[in-house]
Amino acid sequence: MNKWDSLYIYYISGTGNARASAGWIADEASKKGMKSVVQQIDRLENILMPPPDENPLIGFAFPTHGFNAAPIMLRFIAGFPRGLCKEVFLLNTRAGMKLSKLFLPGLSGMALLLPAFILRLKGYKCIGFRPVDLPSNWIPLHPGLKKIVIESIFVRCEKIVRKFANKIFSGEKEYRGLFSLPVDLLISPVSLGYYIGGRFFLSKTFIANYNCNNCGICIKECPTNSIKYVGNRPYWKLTCESCMRCLNHCPKKAIEAAHGMAVAFWIIFTLINAQIIIFLVNTFEIQPDVWWWKIISELIGIGGMILIATFLYRIMHFSMGLKPVKYLVRFTSLTAFPFWRRYWFLKKNNKNTDTV
Ligand SMILES: Cc1cc2nc3c(=O)[nH]c(=O)nc-3n(C[C@H](O)[C@H](O)[C@H](O)COP(=O)(O)O)c2cc1C
Repeated sequence: MNKWDSLYIYYISGTGNARASAGWIADEASKKGMKSVVQQIDRLENILMPPPDENPLIGFAFPTHGFNAAPIMLRFIAGFPRGLCKEVFLLNTRAGMKLSKLFLPGLSGMALLLPAFILRLKGYKCIGFRPVDLPSNWIPLHPGLKKIVIESIFVRCEKIVRKFANKIFSGEKEYRGLFSLPVDLLISPVSLGYYIGGRFFLSKTFIANYNCNNCGICIKECPTNSIKYVGNRPYWKLTCESCMRCLNHCPKKAIEAAHGMAVAFWIIFTLINAQIIIFLVNTFEIQPDVWWWKIISELIGIGGMILIATFLYRIMHFSMGLKPVKYLVRFTSLTAFPFWRRYWFLKKNNKNTDTV
């Protein structure tokens, strides 16, 4: 006899890791005879909620982005209706790596703590709290992992996730996500910085190079509806969450993280920002070691960075038609070189697990 009538899992996934995790949990639920519904929350559209006469267990699976839950999942959880069930669980996929035979974990930061806190405020009790170190897909930051490494990380994580599911289904609680609490709290300022500034800057580093044939797959696939055509070329809006779906799905490998341009953005931003701060300090005779000034200058910094990145991104986007610009962007983008590799998808990772 199961404690719950059904299992509802809501997930968001850039490259399939959270999706695969949701699928493994649903699979275990089916083995126990539980009805399971696995719902992708792309664009927050067409989301099925459990009917009021059901007694469901609800789970949320999502990637970690900048030591936070993926922002679209945070928005979904913030707007999640109250009283649909009593118990919920959270699973965040992180950047797993492998060094020789050693599996290395990612870092959660606020990725589990904040959603758990919001759900608690809504009256839900969190009975599972699990990070899973699936292969890192943060391709602008590091080269894609080798296929063999991805496979071995997947084999290990599948066992972990299935065990986690069975533990929860048998009525036990699991709070593995709390093991790293001291580190997670320590890096919480970085989580905040990424959330209020870093992610917007990142969104402005994506560009389609001259291999783009306007197939529109990136636009269709984007889970946040953040890519549009501007001047007949894909253009990334500030709402992009850098989930890597576009970059890793593009059949032409035309989407790049423009590293050279990001460095240029950064240098120009630092120069302009320093000038603004010097001007304000001189004009208003502000003492730079006053606490409120430090906060204001940080906010000016973050706002300025986003504004400048947006402005320079527009210029880069429109001047991609010029030969020197398009070659400069291409040859200063590490993602454009074959040695950098992209995320290697596992076949089973792509299977459709929407209803099990
Ligand atoms: C923009 C971005 C930020 C990331 N930030 C983190 C992070 O802070 N900590 C971490 O462990 N992994 C981080 N990762 C790695 C992903 O969370 C990880 O690869 C995850 O398994 C991807 O899941 P998905 O395939 O379902 O999107 C990041 C990835 C991206 C693309």
